[in-house]
Amino acid sequence: METISAKYSQFVMPDHINVVGTLFGGQMIAWVDLAAAKVAHRFLKGSDVDGAVTRTIDKVEFKEPVYLGDWVNFLATIISVGSTSFTIQVDAYAEGRHSDSRLACVATLVMVAVKKDTDGNYNKIEHGKSN
Ligand SMILES: CC(C)(COP(=O)(O)OP(=O)(O)OC[C@H]1O[C@@H](n2cnc3c(N)ncnc32)[C@H](O)[C@@H]1OP(=O)(O)O)[C@@H](O)C(=O)NCCC(=O)NCCS
Repeated sequence: METISAKYSQFVMPDHINVVGTLFGGQMIAWVDLAAAKVAHRFLKGSDVDGAVTRTIDKVEFKEPVYLGDWVNFLATIISVGSTSFTIQVDAYAEGRHSDSRLACVATLVMVAVKKDTDGNYNKIEHGKSN
């Protein structure tokens, strides 16, 4: 299977910090979801779907704290493909001004391809992609 991946980066600003002075976990998960959305966009290019929605965010692990002023560099990779669904691994690396890149968070997500029907609802649809 051709490896399909996408990179995405975010800078940690004061608004992203929790009460113990590190990156708020919910913010990290939102960015993980966006990184997954980017690789989903790439994966679904050329198909007849209208987009994809997140069905599950699994196995989220916060391995290292992330600090104000760090860059967080995400690598999202398609790791398996179903009929309407596909699974994405996201690795988030924190990069400080004075520290090496470190693996800060990992997560696995399942996304499902959707198409809008005549009533305006989005329903699952086979994406027609294989691995
Ligand atoms: C995603 C959605 C369209 C799927 O519709 P559905 O009728 O519930 O679909 P199914 O239960 O048959 O699951 C669809 C696919 O997801 C997979 N799936 C469902 N639950 C899963 C789980 N817990 N873990 C892994 N895969 C799962 C199914 O195996 C199926 O995959 P396949 O077609 O590749 O075999 C619908 O559940 C939905 O709209 N959910 C809300 C999504 C949302 O709002 N996300 C947040 C904003 S993006």
